[in-house]
Amino acid sequence: MRPPLEGVIVVTGASSGIGAALARLLAERASALILVARRADRLLELRDALLAARPGLRVEVIPADLSDAAEVERLVRALEGEAVDVLINNAGLGDLGLFERASWSKLDFMIRVNVLAATRLAHAFVPGMVRRGRGGILNVSSGFGMVPSPGAAAYVGTKHFVTGFSESLRMELAGTGVVVSQLCPGPVATEFESIAGNPTGYAVPWWFEVSVEHCARVALRGFSAGRATIVPGFFPSIGILLGAWTPRFVLRALTGPAGRWLRRRPPALLTG
Ligand SMILES: NC(=O)c1ccc[n+]([C@@H]2O[C@H](COP(=O)([O-])OP(=O)(O)OC[C@H]3O[C@@H](n4cnc5c(N)ncnc54)[C@H](OP(=O)(O)O)[C@@H]3O)[C@@H](O)[C@H]2O)c1
Repeated sequence: MRPPLEGVIVVTGASSGIGAALARLLAERASALILVARRADRLLELRDALLAARPGLRVEVIPADLSDAAEVERLVRALEGEAVDVLINNAGLGDLGLFERASWSKLDFMIRVNVLAATRLAHAFVPGMVRRGRGGILNVSSGFGMVPSPGAAAYVGTKHFVTGFSESLRMELAGTGVVVSQLCPGPVATEFESIAGNPTGYAVPWWFEVSVEHCARVALRGFSAGRATIVPGFFPSIGILLGAWTPRFVLRALTGPAGRWLRRRPPALLTG
C-alpha cells in the first residue's frame, strides 16, 4: 500500500526542521501543500521558495498554535472543503531533564501538541480518506517512542502514545487504502534541542546524529513504500531497534545507572 503523495498534503510543524525539509521534498510531487505552524513568517518564506522552484504548485499557509484546542478546531474547519490525501503529523517538541524539575506549563503544552493535536487531526481526516479509499498518515514519533529513557519521561510518554497510536491505526486501516507510517528518528540537527534542553551537557556524537535533509529523504522513501516504521541513520537504527527488542528487565538494569548519573548533573541542565 502506497500513500498518494501526488495529492493534497498537510504538513504540521513546517516552519523548521524535519517538517520544513519534508515539505521541500514533497513539493516536487504533491498537487497542493498546506503548511501549518505558529511562525507565519517562516511558513510564508518557505511558500515563496517552494513556488519559485515549482510555480504550478498550490501552497496554503495556515498559522496555528496546535497547543490550543480552539486553534486546532479552527484549522480543522478551514480544511473542511479540502480532500486531504496525506497528513504529516510532525509538529512537536521535547522536554528533557528530570521530571520533578520540569515546568508543568511546558509539559502541558508538549502533551497538547504531541498527543492531542496529532490525534485530533488524524480523527478529522481519516474518515474522508477511508471514504475515498486512499490516503496516508505519517506520524513523527521518535526513537523515544520505541525505547524508554531516563531524563525524558513525559516526552517518552508522548512519543509512546504516537507509536502505539500509529501502529494500532495502521492495523485498523488495513485494506481501506489508507496507509499509516511512523517516523522514529534518533537525534536530528534541528531546533529541537534548543527547546527540549540537553540534560547530559554533552553534544550528540557526530556519528549518531543525522542531518535534517537525510532524515526527510529516508522518511519519504519509507513512507512512499508504505513501511510501518522508519528509522533514519545506520547507528540510530541499530541503537533504537536493539533498545526496542531488548527485554525490559535488561533495559532497566542497563539504564538505571544513567538515571542516577543524570541526577548528579548540574541543576541548570535538568530543568528541560
Ligand atoms: N530533532 C530531533 O532530534 C528529533 C528526534 C526525534 C523526533 N523528533 C520529532 O520531530 C518533530 C519535528 O521536530 P524538529 O526536530 O524538526 O524540531 P523543530 O525544528 O523545533 O521543529 C518543530 C516544529 O514543530 C512546530 N511546533 C511546535 N510547537 C507548535 C505549536 N504549538 N503549534 C504549531 N506548531 C508547533 C514548530 O513550529 P512553530 O515554532 O513555528 O510553531 C516547528 O515547525 C517533533 O515531533 C519531534 O518530537 C525530533
